[in-house]
Amino acid sequence: MDRLRIRGGKPLQGSVPIGGAKNAALPLMAASLLTAGTVTLSNVPATLVDIKTMRDILSAHGVEFADVTGAPARNGCRTLALSAHTITNTTADYELVRRMRASVLVLGPLLARFGKARVSLPGGCAIGTRPINLHLVGLQAMGAELEIADGYVEAAAPHGLHGAVVRFPSVSVGATEHLMMAAALAQGETVLENAALEPEIIDLAKLLQAMGASVFGAGTSRIVIQGAAELHGATHRVVADRIEAGTYAVAGAITGGQLELEGVSIELLGAVIDSLRSAGVEVRAESGNVWIWGNGRPKAVDITTAPFPAFPTDMQAQMMALMTVADGSSVITETIFENRFMHVPELARMGANITVKGNTAVVRGVTALKGAPVMATDLRASVSLVIAALVANGETVVNRVYHLDRGYERLVEKLSACGADIERLAG
Ligand code: EPZ
Repeated sequence: MDRLRIRGGKPLQGSVPIGGAKNAALPLMAASLLTAGTVTLSNVPATLVDIKTMRDILSAHGVEFADVTGAPARNGCRTLALSAHTITNTTADYELVRRMRASVLVLGPLLARFGKARVSLPGGCAIGTRPINLHLVGLQAMGAELEIADGYVEAAAPHGLHGAVVRFPSVSVGATEHLMMAAALAQGETVLENAALEPEIIDLAKLLQAMGASVFGAGTSRIVIQGAAELHGATHRVVADRIEAGTYAVAGAITGGQLELEGVSIELLGAVIDSLRSAGVEVRAESGNVWIWGNGRPKAVDITTAPFPAFPTDMQAQMMALMTVADGSSVITETIFENRFMHVPELARMGANITVKGNTAVVRGVTALKGAPVMATDLRASVSLVIAALVANGETVVNRVYHLDRGYERLVEKLSACGADIERLAG
């Protein structure tokens, strides 16, 4: 298994081209199932393992892919054309779905267009139990007949799906996206209340609109979708990855460096920028890019994760890495996933002083971290270890690099280009 070797202590200097958002691209790719036309997506982080998994799942349904990019863009992204003209199979197998939970997003589009689908239940994952009850209850409200058998959701809508008013009892990004896609081909109007507000939702709404659906209110808690009898092909550029950008922002800050985050607007970063500024990091927006200046030892700030526009759970581990070397104590509360402190014992191996009680971690800043062999069990936890390693004294080896391959395109290249001493070791 590949590892990363990092020698800390180099301030990052330079420019990082931010890619398209993995978490936007995944539902956008699933939306291609809604039409016989071609959906062309640009700015796709196509070499990420999660994107390849979605590609495998869609291919298994009969979706054809064409890579219409010559060379990849500077940020590593590509343009993919997806054609679900001929769907040969409406079953998504466990073998594919278990690899990535977002696979379940094929259920609604298949059901809406073909009146049937059989999709494996995804099972648990490293950061929490992550049920899909909100997805299923919403589809049922839209007329889906669902049965769970042998670990699969067997879904039928022999007369098509119909519009419904769905009020989510709690905010879910995936369930909001799932029902938006299903509603785009349902008969009549669907109203989603207490919908997620994430930028990735707005991005999906843009594609659905370009495909001929009427979607109003994306980015607010009430989304209204008028279903169309048929959707057509469309072209869409994937929104920038705010989590990738936030990750590099923290990396720049912790090393006391100066980084330009290319191709991401500051509005996407909202609460992350607010927290960085509170920590004493200088942040500026200039001509569509974001500039980060690390300013000596960071100040301790408290963080509570919550749905957008609050601080994102996908940035909690990275921010914790920054707080390990802050001046003072920081209280970090995770409210989205029940098991998202897996990086804590690994950061502790590097000399961090962190106490966890329930969903709260108290991080007492230390003056220096020390390199150590570490590993993590999920994507963001792994990258938090890379961030800590960039400032630690000596050498850190981050094991299980495959987690990083799920969500960070060209991580080693992007960090090395800014002066980090980092290399990937094979085997
Ligand atoms: C998305 O996951 C992201 N994944 C996650 O990114 C991100 O952490 C999460 O949103 C929260 O922002 C993708 O976009 C592909 P949720 P999702 O449904 O949609 C509970 C990363 O590192 N819930 O908003 O699965 C759930 O258990 C990742 O890139 C139910 O109870 O998240 C969680 O506690 C990991 N029932 C909360 O809601 C449901 O039916 C929010 O989950 C659905 C969710």
